[in-house]
Amino acid sequence: MNSLSVNANATVDGQQAYGDSRFPYVFACDDANATLEDTARWVAENREELLRLMRVHGAVALRGFPTSTVEAFDRVVSELQLENFPYKKSLSNAVRVNRTERVFSANEAPPEVRIFFHHEMAQTPLYPKYIFFYCEIPAQSGGATPLCRSDLLFQKLAERCPEFAKTCEEKGLCYTNVMPDSDDAKSGMGRSWQSTLGVQTREEAESRLGELRYSYEWMDNGCLKATTPPLPAVMEVAPGQKTFFNQLIAAYCGWSDDRNDPSKAIRHGDGTPLDSEAVNVAIELSEELCYDHQWVQGDVVLLDNTVAMHARRPFSGTRKILASLAEMRTHALTVS
Ligand SMILES: [Fe+2]
Repeated sequence: MNSLSVNANATVDGQQAYGDSRFPYVFACDDANATLEDTARWVAENREELLRLMRVHGAVALRGFPTSTVEAFDRVVSELQLENFPYKKSLSNAVRVNRTERVFSANEAPPEVRIFFHHEMAQTPLYPKYIFFYCEIPAQSGGATPLCRSDLLFQKLAERCPEFAKTCEEKGLCYTNVMPDSDDAKSGMGRSWQSTLGVQTREEAESRLGELRYSYEWMDNGCLKATTPPLPAVMEVAPGQKTFFNQLIAAYCGWSDDRNDPSKAIRHGDGTPLDSEAVNVAIELSEELCYDHQWVQGDVVLLDNTVAMHARRPFSGTRKILASLAEMRTHALTVS
């Protein structure tokens, strides 16, 4: 086995610099003879450093490694030695298809559907600490994965809209979502209530919703309208470093399909509506801070989901971006 030749100072188009932090941090493998075994060993040996870099920089990109298959991506993720967070256990509203036990399609929504900035599953009481992406097939055009440093966004939001930032922090957010009674692959949020909740019957659904402290209403057409309990909107990831850990932007801009109206999707934890001007400032800031990851086949992007937000640009052609989640965490709003 060779030791792997890896450039730790590699760059990608559009890479950002904040002080001495780079976004994303990039490792490039420039060894044409490298094997998957070499890569697996390199990941295992550098596991702690990779986790630290995700935490500090938000995102770490691996380019040029011999990771040309889904199984290779699964192997890289496995070498990080983190607890798998399987899709079937998640309360995610996206329709996804498993490819290996820990790897699934990122979102089966059609190419023209834009997915706005969010922290993965921050709109549910269960979320993954990490999300990893892999490019099996890049789109013909478009299809970048925008990334945004959420700590910088919250810092700027608190400067420009201090009242709103404070209200988000104190009151948290409630999300309302209408789930179909069978998967709707046309929608970015089309996962059925049975699949979302991991149940077969209405009785089981009601018991699961009770455990999660959701309020709910059955619709005439078999759909289920569910509202979360108040969830935190801001997370202190390190002393003094706060991130805008929520799905406010995605819900406000994008939770729209045959069943859902974005203006009704999100409220503060006490039921009061959001200040739309401040929400627009948050959206504007996310665009200003955005880095678009332009995929190359075999790319792996590792995110600390509590630090970086992600999104999806529309695209044309066949695009296969896969994802894997790790370390399930729970959150709940504690009102002082
Ligand atoms: Fe996502």
